[in-house]
Amino acid sequence: MVIPFSLIRPPKIFFGPGRLSLLPDLLKHVGNNLLILTGSRSHLGNWNVIEVLDLLGKKGYILSYDKIVSEPSPDDVDRIAAKFRHQHVDAVISIGGGSVIDAGKAISAMLSVERPVKDYLEGVGKSSHPGTRKFFIAIPTTAGTGSEATANAVITETGKNGFKRSLRHDNFVPDVAIVDPRLTLSCPPDITAVSGMDAFTQLLESFLSDKSGALTDALAFEGMRSIHSHLYRAFKQGEDLEARSHISCAALFSGITLANAGLGLIHGFASAIGGMISIPHGVICGKLMAPVNRYNIRKLIQEKSNDRALKKYALLGNMISSATSKDPEWQALYVSEYIGELTEKLSIPSLGTYGLQIADLEQIVKTVSHKSNPVQFSEEELTVMLKECI
Ligand SMILES: [Fe+2]
Repeated sequence: MVIPFSLIRPPKIFFGPGRLSLLPDLLKHVGNNLLILTGSRSHLGNWNVIEVLDLLGKKGYILSYDKIVSEPSPDDVDRIAAKFRHQHVDAVISIGGGSVIDAGKAISAMLSVERPVKDYLEGVGKSSHPGTRKFFIAIPTTAGTGSEATANAVITETGKNGFKRSLRHDNFVPDVAIVDPRLTLSCPPDITAVSGMDAFTQLLESFLSDKSGALTDALAFEGMRSIHSHLYRAFKQGEDLEARSHISCAALFSGITLANAGLGLIHGFASAIGGMISIPHGVICGKLMAPVNRYNIRKLIQEKSNDRALKKYALLGNMISSATSKDPEWQALYVSEYIGELTEKLSIPSLGTYGLQIADLEQIVKTVSHKSNPVQFSEEELTVMLKECI
Protein backbone atom coordinates (compact mmCIF):
# COMPACT_ATOMS: atom_id res chain seq x y z
CA MET A 1 0.00 0.00 0.00
CA VAL A 2 1.20 3.53 -0.75
CA ILE A 3 1.22 5.51 2.50
CA PRO A 4 -0.79 8.76 2.14
CA PHE A 5 1.37 11.88 1.91
CA SER A 6 1.21 15.58 1.14
CA LEU A 7 3.83 17.96 -0.25
CA ILE A 8 4.52 21.58 0.66
CA ARG A 9 5.02 23.56 -2.55
CA PRO A 10 8.77 23.53 -3.32
CA PRO A 11 10.38 26.65 -4.82
CA LYS A 12 10.79 27.05 -8.57
CA ILE A 13 14.17 25.33 -8.84
CA PHE A 14 16.96 26.06 -11.30
CA PHE A 15 19.76 23.57 -10.71
CA GLY A 16 23.09 23.21 -12.49
CA PRO A 17 26.44 24.84 -13.22
CA GLY A 18 25.88 28.24 -14.83
CA ARG A 19 22.25 28.61 -13.76
CA LEU A 20 23.07 31.82 -11.82
CA SER A 21 23.07 33.60 -15.19
CA LEU A 22 19.27 33.17 -15.28
CA LEU A 23 18.83 35.66 -12.41
CA PRO A 24 18.23 38.80 -14.52
CA ASP A 25 15.52 37.06 -16.57
CA LEU A 26 13.83 35.71 -13.46
CA LEU A 27 13.53 39.23 -12.06
CA LYS A 28 11.90 40.71 -15.17
CA HIS A 29 8.38 40.92 -13.76
CA VAL A 30 9.28 41.30 -10.09
CA GLY A 31 10.41 44.94 -9.82
CA ASN A 32 13.55 47.04 -9.82
CA ASN A 33 14.47 47.41 -6.15
CA LEU A 34 16.47 44.50 -4.82
CA LEU A 35 17.81 43.84 -1.34
CA ILE A 36 20.88 41.58 -1.64
CA LEU A 37 22.06 39.72 1.45
CA THR A 38 25.49 38.11 1.57
CA GLY A 39 27.62 36.36 4.20
CA SER A 40 30.96 36.85 5.89
CA ARG A 41 32.92 35.10 3.12
CA SER A 42 32.57 37.78 0.52
CA HIS A 43 30.63 36.29 -2.37
CA LEU A 44 30.93 39.71 -3.89
CA GLY A 45 34.50 38.56 -4.56
CA ASN A 46 33.22 35.58 -6.57
CA TRP A 47 33.43 36.34 -10.30
CA ASN A 48 30.23 34.51 -11.13
CA VAL A 49 28.35 36.64 -8.60
CA ILE A 50 30.09 39.91 -9.59
CA GLU A 51 29.22 39.30 -13.22
CA VAL A 52 25.53 38.74 -12.62
CA LEU A 53 25.17 41.66 -10.16
CA ASP A 54 26.98 43.93 -12.65
CA LEU A 55 24.54 42.87 -15.30
CA LEU A 56 21.60 43.69 -13.00
CA GLY A 57 23.09 47.15 -12.41
CA LYS A 58 23.47 47.73 -16.18
CA LYS A 59 19.85 46.69 -16.72
CA GLY A 60 18.70 49.43 -14.33
CA TYR A 61 18.04 47.47 -11.15
CA ILE A 62 18.66 49.34 -7.90
CA LEU A 63 20.67 47.13 -5.55
CA SER A 64 20.88 47.59 -1.77
CA TYR A 65 23.19 45.37 0.27
CA ASP A 66 23.47 43.99 3.79
CA LYS A 67 25.49 41.24 5.46
CA ILE A 68 24.87 38.33 7.84
CA VAL A 69 28.10 37.16 9.46
CA SER A 70 26.86 34.23 11.61
CA GLU A 71 23.71 32.22 12.32
CA PRO A 72 21.06 34.99 12.32
CA SER A 73 19.89 36.36 15.67
CA PRO A 74 16.56 38.11 16.31
CA ASP A 75 18.52 41.38 16.47
CA ASP A 76 20.06 40.79 13.02
CA VAL A 77 16.64 40.20 11.49
CA ASP A 78 14.97 43.13 13.29
CA ARG A 79 17.83 45.51 12.45
CA ILE A 80 17.79 44.79 8.72
CA ALA A 81 13.97 44.62 8.53
CA ALA A 82 13.72 48.02 10.29
CA LYS A 83 16.29 49.53 7.91
CA PHE A 84 14.40 48.49 4.76
CA ARG A 85 10.75 48.31 5.95
CA HIS A 86 9.91 51.82 4.78
CA GLN A 87 12.05 51.69 1.65
CA HIS A 88 10.78 50.27 -1.59
CA VAL A 89 11.92 46.63 -1.80
CA ASP A 90 10.53 44.42 -4.57
CA ALA A 91 12.60 41.33 -3.84
CA VAL A 92 15.06 39.96 -1.30
CA ILE A 93 17.90 37.86 -2.70
CA SER A 94 20.16 35.80 -0.40
CA ILE A 95 23.54 34.75 -1.82
CA GLY A 96 25.37 32.69 0.80
CA GLY A 97 25.24 29.75 3.17
CA GLY A 98 22.27 28.54 5.19
CA SER A 99 22.52 31.43 7.65
CA VAL A 100 22.25 34.02 4.88
CA ILE A 101 19.30 32.19 3.31
CA ASP A 102 17.54 31.84 6.68
CA ALA A 103 18.12 35.53 7.37
CA GLY A 104 16.79 36.57 3.94
CA LYS A 105 13.76 34.33 4.36
CA ALA A 106 12.98 35.90 7.74
CA ILE A 107 13.65 39.48 6.56
CA SER A 108 11.44 39.03 3.49
CA ALA A 109 8.66 38.03 5.91
CA MET A 110 9.36 40.72 8.51
CA LEU A 111 9.28 43.63 6.03
CA SER A 112 5.48 43.40 6.00
CA VAL A 113 4.88 43.34 9.78
CA GLU A 114 5.98 45.83 12.43
CA ARG A 115 6.61 43.66 15.50
CA PRO A 116 9.91 42.00 16.48
CA VAL A 117 10.64 38.59 14.95
CA LYS A 118 10.74 36.98 18.42
CA ASP A 119 6.96 37.48 18.67
CA TYR A 120 6.50 35.04 15.79
CA LEU A 121 9.09 32.37 16.61
CA GLU A 122 7.84 28.86 17.40
CA GLY A 123 8.01 28.16 21.13
CA VAL A 124 9.12 31.73 21.88
CA GLY A 125 6.46 34.22 20.71
CA LYS A 126 2.70 34.11 20.98
CA SER A 127 1.74 35.66 17.61
CA SER A 128 1.19 33.84 14.37
CA HIS A 129 2.66 35.40 11.26
CA PRO A 130 0.10 36.14 8.50
CA GLY A 131 2.46 34.57 5.91
CA THR A 132 2.86 37.79 3.89
CA ARG A 133 6.32 38.45 2.47
CA LYS A 134 8.39 39.96 -0.32
CA PHE A 135 9.46 37.95 -3.36
CA PHE A 136 12.43 35.89 -2.19
CA ILE A 137 15.22 34.19 -4.15
CA ALA A 138 17.69 31.83 -2.44
CA ILE A 139 21.10 31.26 -4.02
CA PRO A 140 23.18 28.86 -1.86
CA THR A 141 26.99 29.04 -1.88
CA THR A 142 27.41 26.06 0.46
CA ALA A 143 25.80 22.63 0.19
CA GLY A 144 24.16 21.71 3.47
CA THR A 145 21.13 23.17 5.17
CA GLY A 146 18.75 22.89 2.20
CA SER A 147 17.20 26.15 3.42
CA GLU A 148 16.67 27.08 -0.25
CA ALA A 149 13.76 24.61 -0.24
CA THR A 150 12.32 24.84 3.29
CA ALA A 151 9.43 26.75 4.85
CA ASN A 152 11.30 27.84 8.00
CA ALA A 153 14.08 30.26 8.93
CA VAL A 154 16.16 29.22 11.95
CA ILE A 155 16.85 32.13 14.30
CA THR A 156 19.40 31.76 17.10
CA GLU A 157 19.98 33.54 20.36
CA THR A 158 22.77 31.97 22.42
CA GLY A 159 23.26 32.27 26.17
CA LYS A 160 21.61 31.34 29.44
CA ASN A 161 18.06 31.75 28.16
CA GLY A 162 19.11 31.16 24.57
CA PHE A 163 17.12 29.39 21.89
CA LYS A 164 17.33 28.15 18.34
CA ARG A 165 13.83 28.40 16.94
CA SER A 166 12.03 28.70 13.63
CA LEU A 167 10.00 31.38 11.94
CA ARG A 168 7.75 29.10 9.92
CA HIS A 169 4.92 29.37 7.43
CA ASP A 170 4.18 27.33 4.29
CA ASN A 171 4.35 30.64 2.36
CA PHE A 172 7.98 31.15 3.43
CA VAL A 173 9.36 28.57 0.98
CA PRO A 174 11.45 30.73 -1.39
CA ASP A 175 9.81 31.67 -4.69
CA VAL A 176 12.95 30.66 -6.56
CA ALA A 177 16.02 28.59 -5.66
CA ILE A 178 19.00 28.95 -7.98
CA VAL A 179 21.37 26.12 -7.09
CA ASP A 180 24.53 26.69 -9.10
CA PRO A 181 27.23 24.27 -7.86
CA ARG A 182 29.98 26.55 -9.28
CA LEU A 183 29.29 28.84 -6.32
CA THR A 184 30.38 26.10 -3.89
CA LEU A 185 33.77 25.50 -5.58
CA SER A 186 35.54 27.91 -3.25
CA CYS A 187 33.91 26.56 -0.08
CA PRO A 188 36.77 25.46 2.24
CA PRO A 189 37.13 21.74 3.17
CA ASP A 190 36.02 22.11 6.82
CA ILE A 191 32.79 23.88 5.83
CA THR A 192 32.25 21.43 2.95
CA ALA A 193 32.52 18.56 5.46
CA VAL A 194 30.17 19.86 8.14
CA SER A 195 27.64 21.29 5.67
CA GLY A 196 27.60 17.96 3.82
CA MET A 197 27.08 16.09 7.09
CA ASP A 198 24.16 18.41 7.90
CA ALA A 199 22.58 17.45 4.56
CA PHE A 200 23.26 13.75 5.25
CA THR A 201 21.64 14.08 8.71
CA GLN A 202 18.58 15.78 7.23
CA LEU A 203 18.22 13.15 4.51
CA LEU A 204 18.57 10.23 6.93
CA GLU A 205 16.34 11.71 9.64
CA SER A 206 13.56 12.53 7.20
CA PHE A 207 13.95 9.07 5.57
CA LEU A 208 13.44 7.42 8.98
CA SER A 209 10.65 9.74 10.11
CA ASP A 210 7.16 8.30 10.53
CA LYS A 211 5.96 11.26 8.42
CA SER A 212 8.02 10.11 5.42
CA GLY A 213 6.29 8.91 2.26
CA ALA A 214 7.08 7.59 -1.21
CA LEU A 215 8.06 11.00 -2.56
CA THR A 216 10.36 12.10 0.28
CA ASP A 217 11.85 8.57 0.49
CA ALA A 218 12.83 8.66 -3.18
CA LEU A 219 14.53 12.04 -2.79
CA ALA A 220 16.20 11.14 0.53
CA PHE A 221 17.60 7.89 -0.83
CA GLU A 222 19.00 9.52 -3.97
CA GLY A 223 20.45 12.32 -1.83
CA MET A 224 22.20 9.80 0.41
CA ARG A 225 23.53 7.97 -2.64
CA SER A 226 25.17 11.26 -3.69
CA ILE A 227 26.56 11.88 -0.20
CA HIS A 228 28.04 8.37 -0.19
CA SER A 229 29.58 8.67 -3.63
CA HIS A 230 30.76 12.30 -3.57
CA LEU A 231 31.00 13.99 -0.15
CA TYR A 232 34.52 12.80 0.61
CA ARG A 233 35.57 13.68 -2.93
CA ALA A 234 34.17 17.23 -2.60
CA PHE A 235 36.02 17.54 0.73
CA LYS A 236 39.34 16.36 -0.74
CA GLN A 237 39.06 17.96 -4.18
CA GLY A 238 37.14 21.18 -3.76
CA GLU A 239 37.48 22.15 -7.42
CA ASP A 240 35.74 18.96 -8.59
CA LEU A 241 32.53 20.32 -10.11
CA GLU A 242 30.95 16.89 -10.49
CA ALA A 243 31.40 16.13 -6.79
CA ARG A 244 30.16 19.62 -5.85
CA SER A 245 27.10 19.16 -8.08
CA HIS A 246 26.16 15.90 -6.37
CA ILE A 247 26.43 17.45 -2.90
CA SER A 248 24.51 20.60 -3.90
CA CYS A 249 21.77 18.36 -5.26
CA ALA A 250 21.76 16.23 -2.07
CA ALA A 251 21.45 19.37 0.06
CA LEU A 252 18.57 20.67 -2.06
CA PHE A 253 16.78 17.31 -1.74
CA SER A 254 17.36 17.37 2.04
CA GLY A 255 15.51 20.69 2.25
CA ILE A 256 12.49 19.24 0.45
CA THR A 257 12.47 16.06 2.54
CA LEU A 258 12.91 17.82 5.89
CA ALA A 259 10.17 20.37 5.07
CA ASN A 260 7.76 17.50 4.46
CA ALA A 261 8.84 14.59 6.66
CA GLY A 262 10.50 16.36 9.59
CA LEU A 263 13.71 15.52 11.44
CA GLY A 264 14.89 13.35 14.36
CA LEU A 265 16.97 13.29 17.50
CA ILE A 266 20.14 14.86 16.05
CA HIS A 267 18.29 18.02 15.08
CA GLY A 268 16.56 17.94 18.47
CA PHE A 269 20.02 17.99 20.05
CA ALA A 270 21.19 20.68 17.60
CA SER A 271 18.32 22.90 18.63
CA ALA A 272 18.96 22.43 22.38
CA ILE A 273 22.77 22.80 22.14
CA GLY A 274 22.69 25.63 19.59
CA GLY A 275 20.68 27.84 21.95
CA MET A 276 23.21 27.34 24.74
CA ILE A 277 26.57 27.55 23.03
CA SER A 278 27.71 28.95 19.73
CA ILE A 279 28.65 25.81 17.79
CA PRO A 280 28.13 25.63 14.00
CA HIS A 281 24.99 23.63 13.22
CA GLY A 282 26.82 21.31 10.81
CA VAL A 283 29.46 20.44 13.43
CA ILE A 284 26.75 19.38 15.91
CA CYS A 285 25.00 17.25 13.29
CA GLY A 286 28.23 15.75 11.93
CA LYS A 287 29.54 14.83 15.35
CA LEU A 288 26.25 13.33 16.58
CA MET A 289 25.55 11.29 13.44
CA ALA A 290 27.69 8.30 14.45
CA PRO A 291 26.62 7.80 18.09
CA VAL A 292 22.92 8.60 17.59
CA ASN A 293 22.55 6.26 14.62
CA ARG A 294 24.50 3.53 16.41
CA TYR A 295 22.11 3.75 19.38
CA ASN A 296 19.08 3.99 17.09
CA ILE A 297 20.04 0.84 15.20
CA ARG A 298 20.96 -1.19 18.29
CA LYS A 299 17.69 -0.28 19.97
CA LEU A 300 15.65 -1.01 16.86
CA ILE A 301 17.24 -4.48 16.65
CA GLN A 302 16.80 -5.10 20.37
CA GLU A 303 13.22 -3.84 20.76
CA LYS A 304 11.91 -4.87 17.33
CA SER A 305 9.51 -1.94 17.84
CA ASN A 306 9.81 -0.18 14.48
CA ASP A 307 10.24 -2.60 11.63
CA ARG A 308 9.82 0.12 9.00
CA ALA A 309 12.78 2.16 10.30
CA LEU A 310 15.01 -0.91 10.66
CA LYS A 311 14.21 -1.95 7.09
CA LYS A 312 15.14 1.54 5.91
CA TYR A 313 18.49 1.38 7.71
CA ALA A 314 19.05 -2.01 6.03
CA LEU A 315 18.18 -0.56 2.62
CA LEU A 316 20.72 2.20 3.13
CA GLY A 317 23.32 -0.33 4.36
CA ASN A 318 22.70 -2.43 1.28
CA MET A 319 23.28 0.59 -0.98
CA ILE A 320 26.52 1.71 0.68
CA SER A 321 28.00 -1.75 1.36
CA SER A 322 26.98 -3.39 -1.95
CA ALA A 323 27.02 -6.63 0.09
CA THR A 324 23.68 -7.98 -1.11
CA SER A 325 24.07 -11.43 0.49
CA LYS A 326 24.15 -10.10 4.07
CA ASP A 327 21.07 -10.15 6.33
CA PRO A 328 19.10 -6.96 7.14
CA GLU A 329 20.52 -6.59 10.68
CA TRP A 330 24.08 -6.73 9.32
CA GLN A 331 23.16 -4.12 6.70
CA ALA A 332 21.64 -1.83 9.34
CA LEU A 333 24.68 -2.17 11.63
CA TYR A 334 26.93 -1.46 8.66
CA VAL A 335 25.32 2.01 8.39
CA SER A 336 26.56 3.01 11.85
CA GLU A 337 30.04 1.67 11.09
CA TYR A 338 30.08 3.60 7.81
CA ILE A 339 28.99 6.88 9.41
CA GLY A 340 31.67 6.50 12.11
CA GLU A 341 34.37 6.05 9.45
CA LEU A 342 33.07 8.94 7.34
CA THR A 343 33.06 11.27 10.37
CA GLU A 344 36.70 10.33 11.05
CA LYS A 345 37.74 10.85 7.43
CA LEU A 346 36.08 14.28 7.33
CA SER A 347 37.83 15.34 10.58
CA ILE A 348 34.63 16.63 12.20
CA PRO A 349 35.76 18.45 15.38
CA SER A 350 34.45 17.47 18.82
CA LEU A 351 31.84 19.64 20.50
CA GLY A 352 34.18 20.16 23.46
CA THR A 353 36.41 22.26 21.20
CA TYR A 354 33.62 24.82 21.11
CA GLY A 355 33.13 24.82 24.87
CA LEU A 356 30.47 22.15 25.47
CA GLN A 357 31.09 20.60 28.91
CA ILE A 358 29.81 17.60 30.88
CA ALA A 359 28.05 20.07 33.22
CA ASP A 360 25.90 21.29 30.30
CA LEU A 361 24.49 17.88 29.45
CA GLU A 362 21.82 17.70 32.17
CA GLN A 363 20.04 20.77 30.80
CA ILE A 364 20.36 19.57 27.20
CA VAL A 365 18.84 16.12 27.78
CA LYS A 366 15.96 17.68 29.72
CA THR A 367 15.02 20.01 26.88
CA VAL A 368 15.74 17.84 23.83
CA SER A 369 12.78 16.81 21.72
CA HIS A 370 12.89 13.60 19.72
CA LYS A 371 9.28 12.88 18.85
CA SER A 372 10.03 12.00 15.20
CA ASN A 373 13.01 9.77 16.03
CA PRO A 374 12.37 6.08 15.21
CA VAL A 375 13.03 5.07 18.86
CA GLN A 376 12.81 6.89 22.20
CA PHE A 377 15.65 7.15 24.71
CA SER A 378 15.94 7.79 28.45
CA GLU A 379 17.82 10.84 29.76
CA GLU A 380 20.67 8.49 30.79
CA GLU A 381 20.97 7.10 27.25
CA LEU A 382 20.90 10.59 25.75
CA THR A 383 23.67 11.66 28.15
CA VAL A 384 25.88 8.72 27.11
CA MET A 385 25.52 9.69 23.41
CA LEU A 386 26.43 13.31 24.10
CA LYS A 387 29.47 12.36 26.19
CA GLU A 388 30.94 10.63 23.13
CA CYS A 389 30.87 13.95 21.26
CA ILE A 390 32.70 16.15 23.78
FE1 LIG B 1 20.27 20.79 9.70
